[in-house]
Amino acid sequence: MFKIAVAGTGYVGLVAGVCFAEVGHAVTCVDIDENKIKLMESGVSPIYEQDLEGLMQKNYAEGRLNYTTDYAKAYREADAIFIGVGTPEQPDGSANLSYIATVARQIAENVEKDCLVVVKSTVPVGTNDKVEQFIKDFLINDVKVEVASNPEFLAQGTAVHDTLHAARIIIGTESKWAEEVLMKIYEPFNLPIVSVNRRSAEMIKYASNDFLALKISYMNDIANLCELVGADIQDVAKGMSFDTRIGAKFLNAGIGYGGSCFPKDTKALEYLARQNGYELKTIQAAIDVNKYQKTKLFKKASDRLITFNGLKVAVLGLTFKPGTDDLREAPSLENVPLLLERGANIFAFDPVGVENFKKVYPEGKSGQGSITYVEKVEEALEGAHLCLIFTEWGEVKAITPEVYKKLMRVPLVYDGRNIYDVKDMENAGVEYYSIGRKSSEVSGNLAEVAATRV
Ligand code: UDX
Repeated sequence: MFKIAVAGTGYVGLVAGVCFAEVGHAVTCVDIDENKIKLMESGVSPIYEQDLEGLMQKNYAEGRLNYTTDYAKAYREADAIFIGVGTPEQPDGSANLSYIATVARQIAENVEKDCLVVVKSTVPVGTNDKVEQFIKDFLINDVKVEVASNPEFLAQGTAVHDTLHAARIIIGTESKWAEEVLMKIYEPFNLPIVSVNRRSAEMIKYASNDFLALKISYMNDIANLCELVGADIQDVAKGMSFDTRIGAKFLNAGIGYGGSCFPKDTKALEYLARQNGYELKTIQAAIDVNKYQKTKLFKKASDRLITFNGLKVAVLGLTFKPGTDDLREAPSLENVPLLLERGANIFAFDPVGVENFKKVYPEGKSGQGSITYVEKVEEALEGAHLCLIFTEWGEVKAITPEVYKKLMRVPLVYDGRNIYDVKDMENAGVEYYSIGRKSSEVSGNLAEVAATRV
């Protein structure tokens, strides 16, 4: 059993802390936000993440998990301190390391015994060398402090599962001592451990994330070509997936990748390359394709309509993917302002993302249009002239083609996640556009349909 302090209680820090407690370590989660600490002590998770709250309550009740704002005490007593604070992207694509620096300094000024500092946050290659030097520069007591890299590969929505059942644990260390401490901390997880040097560990994180981002952008690029030449991206992906060298995962074309990692990490690696006088052409291409893809539905709808002004537009899904309330880099954030500028009256549905979205777009008039939040998909669709699907939530997938036809004033659907079968939509009489597939061929006149419903 190790005494572990975790700095930062976001997706990375909190999930790591809870999972360390779950496997038997004594964990103290540190955050500067007093209210957040109180909330967690009362058993409430500040983030929406499957299984997290249950494990928080269990490990807190059993005394293995604590929360505090008193970082000095937490760092003083720890055998290992994991840093899981944010490294937000700056306008030039570089990572903002100020939160890491703050924690590093607090550690240096408070540790009283030998201690391993483990950086979980995604940081540019070489940062951990600097963090170690920084801590040594500010160290007050005569103790050994080393820094190790231990990048995180969890996906939001399945964070707890991804941590407890990770495909691999990457540890990057510069000494036998640091390697052994980390090996022992991870021993109870019983997972494959890849032990490399610090810089390689840092690079594994970027190379893995950016490869997946590249894979998605590649499929989106091919999808766009499929539309032009009459191929079907889903059939193409299926055909590709049987080749084990390609694999079956992350082949879904759509409206681009979002979230807290892929957009940031692609830009950060591209920036790192540029700083080193190298042009990372593949990653730049992934970034470019993703930017184009995000507004693909809006562009398609603009081609089809004379105006958005005064139209009731159903927006289904606001978060960057299902299973999370996170809006970071979500396609909805790119499309909603375009629609509002053009006078659309948006009726938005999302099972968990509405509260966060309201902070950016409060309910009511906005731009030339307006935005209303609804609790049921059907309320968004009722009388709508147009529907845009941004997130493949179960609630959205459960809506059958007939419901679109029945409820919408004009059954015109733009699906950024390829949820429906084109033929099913066609048979139900829905004019349906998706990504990398042909559009439905609806016979009859949609205007006539609309006219009957005025
Ligand atoms: C990702 C990585 O999966 C994880 O390993 C890393 O630690 C952090 O970044 P996350 O951002 O939570 O996790 O979500 P993920 O499920 O990977 O999806 C990222 C984005 O890619 C989403 O916007 C999703 O919609 C999109 N995506 C994913 C596709 O467009 N197509 C796919 O086939 C898969």
